[in-house]
Amino acid sequence: MANQEDIFKKVISHAKEYGYIFQSSEIYDGLSAVYDYGQNGVELKKNIREYWWQAMVQLNDNIVGIDAAIFMHPTTWKASGHVDAFNDPLIDNKDSKKRYRADVLVEDHVAKIEGKIEKEVKKAAKRFGDSFDKKQFLETNPRVLDYQAKADGILKRLGKSLENEDLADVKELIEELGIVCPISGSKNWTDVKQFNLMFGTKLGATADSAMDLYLRPETAQGIFVNFLNVQKSGRMKIPFGIAQTGKAFRNEIVARQFIFRMREFEQMEMQYFIKPGTQKEWYDTWKEKRLNWHLSLGLGEDNYRFHDHEKLAHYADAAADIEFRFPFGFKELEGIHSRTDFDLGSHEKFSNKKLQYFDPEENKSYVPYVLETSIGLDRMFLAVFSSALQEEALENNTTRTVLKLPAVLAPTKAAVLPLLKRDGLPEVAHKLMDDLKWDFNVVYDEKDAVGRRYRRQDAVGTPFCVTVDHQTLEDETVTIRHRDTMEQQRVKINEVKGIISKEVDMRYWLQRI
Ligand code: GAP
Repeated sequence: MANQEDIFKKVISHAKEYGYIFQSSEIYDGLSAVYDYGQNGVELKKNIREYWWQAMVQLNDNIVGIDAAIFMHPTTWKASGHVDAFNDPLIDNKDSKKRYRADVLVEDHVAKIEGKIEKEVKKAAKRFGDSFDKKQFLETNPRVLDYQAKADGILKRLGKSLENEDLADVKELIEELGIVCPISGSKNWTDVKQFNLMFGTKLGATADSAMDLYLRPETAQGIFVNFLNVQKSGRMKIPFGIAQTGKAFRNEIVARQFIFRMREFEQMEMQYFIKPGTQKEWYDTWKEKRLNWHLSLGLGEDNYRFHDHEKLAHYADAAADIEFRFPFGFKELEGIHSRTDFDLGSHEKFSNKKLQYFDPEENKSYVPYVLETSIGLDRMFLAVFSSALQEEALENNTTRTVLKLPAVLAPTKAAVLPLLKRDGLPEVAHKLMDDLKWDFNVVYDEKDAVGRRYRRQDAVGTPFCVTVDHQTLEDETVTIRHRDTMEQQRVKINEVKGIISKEVDMRYWLQRI
């Protein structure tokens, strides 16, 4: 069986081969941790964004969207705490000269311990068969409990040291755990240092008058500074939300995991403005809502888990990640943060403008609390793409590579294929294509044997192939082949649109939330 690294390599090469993702400026040897989306990638990304937007904005009458600028007044980042506190703890290995995030080194070590727990579970499941009770096993098996206690202890200590800015203890922890550099294999580490992740740039023509700016490291602040504009112009009543999708930039040091950690990426964020004191209730509600959004796509319930934060960001009083099982293990996909009144309160102080809401029920004004949901669009892309890519053994001892993207997200919904390039079949196929293209992205393909064309569409993730053959000329029927089951159905040509619509319509998928 292929190991994690091989699977991940396959994901990256497949994304390139089928026009999903390319390295940025590849002809100049690329730019590290920056990527371009190709002809299929841009469609998949757009569909994920739209799936999020519909779930958050269109289906919630108290959530509205905005599109704030990437450039913001520099004081924004002072007020938000990013100038002083948006740092990563870094450590260098003196032998390989490679730089790492110290917390990631420790977390990877913990992931290995958790991997041992998973192995114990698999072994026991095999041994006990149908009578295996996973929950009971996790709660009682001494070896598992020992591993779990070790993992929890390490994370707790890491959280505490980071919170106290005790970087010497982070180094000590790395040394105590015997963590080695993956490149040199040595434990020859430097001290741990903090490094600010924001990219700086300048606004203005001359050196003296230029103003120092930052590229925004999160989209959230564009929402906070517009809180009153939206509240007043939209006559919004608390609780209400403001949603936004857009680019964010971070000078990531450890940027080796393809589009998982990029220097330029896109976020989909929503700030939900609430009455102080109700944050716990909304935190639980949004954790559940967001997990249900993920589950509605059918990527597999086992691929998700919550991770509650020990170490809280400077703005939060509670925070959890929705983690996804990526090819390199469970990692953060989305964050749900109870941000208190930190941001609005701080912008009030720095701007000297009141950012308060008059609550008619309470008959008083207050700075609202904020519950945030924040997901990386590129990371969501990777979750969808990597879990969809499968090598399937077929009955005739061959394998097929199939990209089982949720049909609602697939870049192209159907391929129209004339069985042969003659006898009037291409004309009928073109006519069908011209009709379908008003509703969906469709492609036409007449090159090679039809079996090879099916395989091509499987690999690119097209959920339906519609084949026009000689029978079509006689009775106006075509075959629809379903990507996932490879089943073929003979249907009337005028039924094709309805059959595809039912499977790709966002309404059908979003109703599962
Ligand atoms: N406004 C809160 C915020 O930005 P975050 O946990 O730093 O919180 C939110 O980021 C989400 O953005 C993450 O869960 C992740 O999906 C995505 N993200 C963060 N850094 C990223 C990066 N360098 N590359 C790709 N996605 C990233």
